[in-house]
Amino acid sequence: MRKFARIIGTGSYLPPKILTNDDLSKTIDTSDKWISARTGIKQRHIVTDESACDLAKVAVNNALEMAEVNANELDLIIFATTTPDKIFPATATLLQTAIGATCPAFDLQSVCAGFIFALTTAEQYIKTGAANKILVIGSETLSRIVDWQDRTTAILFGDGAGAVVLAGSKERGILHSKLFSDGRYLSALQVDNNYINETGFIQMKGNEVFKIAVNQLSSLAEEMLKECNMSASQLDWMVPHQANIRIISAIAKRLKIPMEKVVVTLAKHGNTSAASIPLALDVAVRDGRIQRGHTLLFEGIGAGFSWGSILLEF
Ligand code: UT7
Repeated sequence: MRKFARIIGTGSYLPPKILTNDDLSKTIDTSDKWISARTGIKQRHIVTDESACDLAKVAVNNALEMAEVNANELDLIIFATTTPDKIFPATATLLQTAIGATCPAFDLQSVCAGFIFALTTAEQYIKTGAANKILVIGSETLSRIVDWQDRTTAILFGDGAGAVVLAGSKERGILHSKLFSDGRYLSALQVDNNYINETGFIQMKGNEVFKIAVNQLSSLAEEMLKECNMSASQLDWMVPHQANIRIISAIAKRLKIPMEKVVVTLAKHGNTSAASIPLALDVAVRDGRIQRGHTLLFEGIGAGFSWGSILLEF
């Protein structure tokens, strides 16, 4: 009998400090009207002195509690982040100690596609029997690498964390996943530092990213559904990377998925990179929209570019 990797717990956390569009318009030449219309974002949460590990710890404890799993039962921790606490050791090992786990733990860096890459990696461990309970985290403090004087990026990003506990199960879980990378898009989105200079800032050609995101993610979703002999109408929920409402609605329109079936949380927290999908998932699970047996499609794209999608039964 096929063994599935099934999500048995979700958790999320946003740091308490909030920066609204109106707050931003006091320091840069922008407005709530422009940001809301072009992105759908109303506010973002910003760390004061918390690290990616600190944010993750709260999200993880919520996920473990829902899963009814103790940290010492975990077989593996995969921590997706672009903003690790230190160059080394891996933030995953800091978290391992903070929650009282003893299993192997490593970081995975795939920017906004980080959670999709981490969850797909975790699934392989479960399918092969190498692990049975895995903690998968997306946690970011992107505010540290945003140039707060650059109105083309400062309006978009925020801090936060999301986590899931994945377990081996006879019940259906992850059904299909696909990952892609294409390093030729380097100049469209990057942090221009080389570890020798100081930390750099996010540099982005927004228009270019927008078009690539819509095209790649729409085609990928169509491919995923075709390969599973499914149609978009069979999806209960799409849980997309929360980057821009116009990207999300363009993809939903192309797939003919009504927006009522799309989980959108970005108004509250902006683009939290690797944290955005598990954050949105946790919100919709806890408010009762997503229920056991629902079919979900995750999809995300980020710098590199790297992108991917996961189809699963929750
Ligand atoms: O996870 C992946 C991360 N990145 C993304 O998802 C970003 C994807 N791209 C986007 O979300 C959009 O491209 C943006 C929201 C970044 C920009 O929206 P846009 O509709 O593509 O605007 P634009 O870059 O074409 O700029 C339109 C105008 C320009 O002025 P002019 O040249 O028409 O006079 C910009 O200078 O808006 C101006 N502008 C702003 N105005 C007010 C750019 N940023 C701002 C701003 N406030 N914050």
